[in-house]
Amino acid sequence: MERFNVVVIGAGPGGYIAAIRCAQLGLKTAVVDQWLDSEGQYRLGGTCLNVGCIPSKALLDSSEKFDELKRHFGDHGIDCENPRINVSRMMNSKQQVVNSLTGGIAMLFLKHKIAWLKGSGRLLDNKTVEIVGRDPAVAPQTVTADYIIIATGSHPRASPLVAIDNDIILDSTGALALTETPRRLLVIGGGVVGLELGSVWQRLGSEVIVLVRGAQFLNKADHQISKAAFDIFTLQGLDIRLNATPTAIQIHDRLATVTVKIAETEQQFEVDKVLVAVGREPNTQGLNAAQIGVAFDAQGFIIVDEACQTSVSGIYAIGDVVRGPMLAHKASEEGVAVAERLAGQKSHVNYEVIPWVIYTSPEIAWVGPGSQELNNQGRAISVGVFPFKGNGRALAMGKGQGMVKLISDAKTDALIAAHILGPFASELIAEAVVTMEYGGSAEDLARTVHAHPTLSEAMHEAALATARRALHI
Ligand code: FAD
Ligand code: NAI
Repeated sequence: MERFNVVVIGAGPGGYIAAIRCAQLGLKTAVVDQWLDSEGQYRLGGTCLNVGCIPSKALLDSSEKFDELKRHFGDHGIDCENPRINVSRMMNSKQQVVNSLTGGIAMLFLKHKIAWLKGSGRLLDNKTVEIVGRDPAVAPQTVTADYIIIATGSHPRASPLVAIDNDIILDSTGALALTETPRRLLVIGGGVVGLELGSVWQRLGSEVIVLVRGAQFLNKADHQISKAAFDIFTLQGLDIRLNATPTAIQIHDRLATVTVKIAETEQQFEVDKVLVAVGREPNTQGLNAAQIGVAFDAQGFIIVDEACQTSVSGIYAIGDVVRGPMLAHKASEEGVAVAERLAGQKSHVNYEVIPWVIYTSPEIAWVGPGSQELNNQGRAISVGVFPFKGNGRALAMGKGQGMVKLISDAKTDALIAAHILGPFASELIAEAVVTMEYGGSAEDLARTVHAHPTLSEAMHEAALATARRALHI
């Protein structure tokens, strides 16, 4: 039986990063993963690289190019008559990006001498993992480890109304693999997947209806930003229905009829495809974790302490399978922290400063609480808002929509949150994240020289605005 210092179960951004860091620190490491691609080949990278972050961003980028060509190139004097989208070439391009990155992880494993064990991992005890490959004729392999890291990720939550067939009723994986643009697409759930994948198909020509269960659009974001985003997305053509709960779905003649209770009335929508995007659930089936004493919470997440240690000594868990935001960068940071702890170092993850990004157009990014939450807590805050229409670079790009909103503590001026709706919000948010990580203030940002003309000047101006001294509003 082969013996390792660390065996990681799951090769998503939590598991593969944990393995690389373990190997860097001199620990003999193996990673077990069961992911099979559409051609039946084992693939590293988990949800994020295969059917999550990367393919969705590839399609968002392709569809944004098409949308720009159709709606905005004319403003720059570039005329293009009757542009068409070739969905199958777009999908090929997406797949090349995925293949390149997942293949890249295999190369990194070779470089770091990490063993890649192909198949499903099952815990036999706190030191032994059994790996069952897809070929029933091959006997399961058993390996031992000083430590085990569970990084098995998550899967889409099912709808109680209808089963996913990835033909007419799609989950996120199905919506990333359509072979043609649906005429009408109804999205159940106005969260991150719903908005990103709804935007992809709306830009490519679908009529897209997004059902939001509650009265507040994008409840997790700052409400000033959510409201502005709602108005922009509605103008773009997304049909967002608030207080909308689907009550029945029927399939007939390759169409779906969805009955929806909107406020107090009932309405029916006949659509070609339905995307169910109502959240994700942790992957623990078949892991045998509960049987060996690993404790779970009521939602099925593995319970861990601050150090990602489970209730069983020597077994750690990270990423989507444990509490906290289901984000790739959160999973990776936990992976690094656990690896360093196993190697005897002190390491931590700052859960207060984890950025969120929604890759719509304009993008939405934030770190820290929304002002509604801070007001509810009765916290004294200073708010600085700067609109992108006052930023030269944004206007030159034809992207003057949205704003930067920075929030600092009214007494100490420490930066406590940043909320951005605008071009490259995903990149701009990093400046606020670094400032907050180092305990910086709004004035620190205001006194930092920002290059001109750049989008980052909007961050600078919003920092100045917290002290009522913005220069361009
Ligand atoms: P995963 O990436 O889910 O990987 C888990 C791995 O474990 C898988 O490879 C699986 O095969 C393997 N596994 C499970 N059980 C077993 C077992 N018993 N034996 C062996 N292997 C097993 N997050 C972002 O931060 N940014 C984004 O832009 C973003 N976009 C997304 C877009 C979509 C459409 C989706 C669905 C998600 C997106 N996410 C994004 C979320 C992100 O994908 C997850 O937070 C992230 O992948 C979690 O990483 P993980 O390592 O915990 O798990
Ligand atoms: P989500 O939690 O973001 O949104 C789900 C939405 O569905 C919520 O608004 C919820 O109120 C609603 N909902 C839940 N049950 C419902 C029901 N029965 N009927 C109608 N509405 C219902 O989940 P989503 O969009 O599925 O994404 C899952 C996770 O994946 C995200 O929370 C995020 O962690 C991650 N992700 C991250 C991305 C990024 O970082 N850019 C992109 C995509 C996903």
